Formats: sequence, C-alpha cells, structure tokens
Amino acid sequence: MTHTLIYPHTAVHNAAGHLEIGGCDVVELARAFGTPLFIYDEQTVRDQCRAYHSAFRARTDLYEIVYASKAFSCRAMAELVAEEDLSLDVATGGELAAARAAAFPAERIYFHGNNKSVAEIESGLDTGIGQFVVDSFEEVERLEAAAAARGQRQKVLVRVTPGVRPTTHDFVQTGQQDSKFGFGLADGCAAEAVRRLRHAAHLELVGIHAHIGSQIFELDSYRREVEILFVALDDWRRQTGFECCIFNIGGGLGIRYTEADKPSSIAEFAAMSVEAVHEGAARHGMTTPKLFVEPGRSIAGKAAVTAYTVGTVKVIPGVRTYVAVDGGMSDNLRPMLYDSRYEAMLASKAEAPPTEVVTVAGKHCESGDVLVRDVHIAPPEPGDILVTPATGAYGYAMANNYNAQPRPAVVMVAKGRARVIIERETWDDVLRLQRSLVQ
Ligand SMILES: Cc1ncc(COP(=O)(O)O)c(C=O)c1O
Repeated sequence: MTHTLIYPHTAVHNAAGHLEIGGCDVVELARAFGTPLFIYDEQTVRDQCRAYHSAFRARTDLYEIVYASKAFSCRAMAELVAEEDLSLDVATGGELAAARAAAFPAERIYFHGNNKSVAEIESGLDTGIGQFVVDSFEEVERLEAAAAARGQRQKVLVRVTPGVRPTTHDFVQTGQQDSKFGFGLADGCAAEAVRRLRHAAHLELVGIHAHIGSQIFELDSYRREVEILFVALDDWRRQTGFECCIFNIGGGLGIRYTEADKPSSIAEFAAMSVEAVHEGAARHGMTTPKLFVEPGRSIAGKAAVTAYTVGTVKVIPGVRTYVAVDGGMSDNLRPMLYDSRYEAMLASKAEAPPTEVVTVAGKHCESGDVLVRDVHIAPPEPGDILVTPATGAYGYAMANNYNAQPRPAVVMVAKGRARVIIERETWDDVLRLQRSLVQ
C-alpha cells in the first residue's frame, strides 16, 4: 500500500490484488452496491474523533469538539459522532432534521447560518438545541421574538468576522471583513450586536464564534484570530459587562488530498489553540473561556473514498488519455469549484504498477467536469473500478442532480461488514418531484 497518508486507516491491498477498506473488498462493494459509491470507513471516523479528544484532553479540560456536519451530514454520521462524544454544528433545518433523526443530544447541537428562516429558528427552539450562533441583526430580532413567544431563554454565541485572511482558496475564506457571514469587528457591527444581545430578554449571550476559512494549513492565522477577538472581548467587557464563557474558534484544519499536501496535525492545532486562548485570557485578565473547535473536513475527509466504474478510455495521441467514469461533478464538485487536486488508483488492479498518466473525467456535459488531472494509475480498461481517496468531506454533501444524474449510494464499512447509510437515488427519485404541464 503506497498511499496510506490519504486513504482510510484500514485500507490495504488484499490477496485478490484489490483495494480493501474496513475488511471489505472495494471491487466487491462496487459489484454489490453499484457505482459511483461512497465508501466510509467507520474506524477512520472514530480515529479522527479520538485524535481530537486526546489532543485537547492532554492540554485542557475546558474544551468541546463540535463536528461541523456540513462536511457530511446524515443520520448515521450523527449517530457515530455522538457515540464518540462530539457535539454537532448544523447549518440548516435539514442538517438539524438529520441530527434529530439520529436522536443527537439536543443540548449539544449548535445552529449556524447567515440566513436562518423563522421556520428553522422555531425548529431549533422546539428541539431545545444548545446554542444559536447569531449571524445578523435580523436574526437577533427573529430569535428574540420566537424565544419570547415560547417563554424560553435561549443561549447564543455571536458570530464575528475578525478580519483575518488565511492562505486558502478565496471561496473558503470566511473571516475577512467583506464576508456574508457574521458581524464585522472593524465596522463596529460586532460591538453593536453584543449590546443588542445583552439587552434581549430571551437571549443569553454566552460566548463568541469566528470561523476564518477551510482547508487551512498554516496555524498562524488562528493565532491572529484569537488575539484579535480577545482585544474585542476586553472592550465589550468594559462597555457592557459581557463575560465570555465560550470561545468558538471555528473549524478549518486542512487535510491531505494528495501526497504533496502538508497540513498541520490535529495535535499541533490543539496545542496552538489551547495556548492562544490561555494566553489571550491571561493577557486581558479574563477567566479562560471554554474552547470550542468545529472540525468538519478533518473528521470526515480521509474516512471515505469514492468508487467509480471506468466506462470509456479516450486516448488522444501525444496529448492526453481521458479515463471517463460513471460519476463526476454531481458527486464531487470540489475540483470544479476550487480547482481541488485529488489522487486516484484502480481498486481492481491495486498491485499493478501505476505506469499510465491519465486524466479522470466525469460523465457530465461540461468540459470542466474533470475529477483528477495527470494522475499515475495502472493501465485502465472499461470495467475497472477506480477510486478517488479523501472524498469524505464536501463530496456527498455537495452532491447534486446535474444532468438528472441520481445521487450515489453511501456505505459504511467496518470489520468486513458494509451497511448502506444512504440509499442510491434512482431515475424515479429524480423524476419524483416533476409534474407534467398536462394537469
Ligand atoms: C462555521 C463553520 N464551522 C466549521 C466549518 C467546518 O470547516 P472544516 O470542514 O474546514 O473543518 C465550517 C465550514 O465551512 C463553517 O462554516
């Protein structure tokens, strides 16, 4: 096995010369469940959750690991992270519904979103979730009104954009001043939000939240984020008496998609964030708040591969070989959205030397529907099972029905057993909501 860094932890080459994950032969999984198929390794998800817990527990008792379910939201995943003692961040009513279906402990669900509808707010209040992360002045009013109507007092965090730009793709930066998320520090909106929240009779401001972006490799940006936020907290304490109990620094820790990627480790992230929050509190004479982190990608990303069947192999002499598979931008939008790089291998020829340089293309009607460029794989033939690793985060979560393509099935594998956790859509499913003009 040459690609251990980017494949699930249980990935091996088996006696049949196939890729095996969670004790299941990937070629047999493809045969049994069809392709494209997301294969999640339960062990890797658990390992990542435990790596977060042990890295933080070694440094502080005052922490909470919150799985950002947008990375991969479904009932089974919510059940799994609950078993591993993580909390849950939901960003929509749909993600909240998945959490409820999993009977996720309500007080450990935290609700994000820059435009929560009244229905979503009411659903959160009815569920009895732990915190709303308040993102706009409209939300302050809507949430206060809905909580008042129920005679409830709701805990909230205020989401702040600290003006920090990490080095990552523009579309996954969220902490800069010009952002659709949260209240700006520089323009005084965050201070005003704190003032209003402190006056809202049915809201209890318990802390602060910021998320500066995603797929972040350098930890310095987080340090700046924490320093800037403590300066603001100091001001707000003096102006309004607000004592911050919860300091949520968001998610964003990057992962390896290719062998060349060099992300920071979970342990480094824990060391930096715990130290920064302790130092910040000490510098400003505050009690150290409880540290929340919200990883999504670094919990789910490495846990899954996507298996495809090779359909056509188009050789353009002297130019390029396109290996077309039966999925594409409908199950992995990231290469198109962010120009993201992936690796690939033939699960059906796991032991064969990767002598060919090919480009893996999807089946959609877009020239840009390319999953992996210039990757070394064994000589491909129609019928081969090709996998792309590290597709567990923002893969299925962003899956869509472009070209009326049904969304793939998702299986969770462990100890030689595969369980379907999301059924494959059918053409009938795709048609289900359509109505004729003749009615
Ligand atoms: C508010 C918030 N928290 C956490 C995350 C998770 O980020 P990541 O998957 O990069 O860890 C995101 C991702 O967009 C987010 O918007």
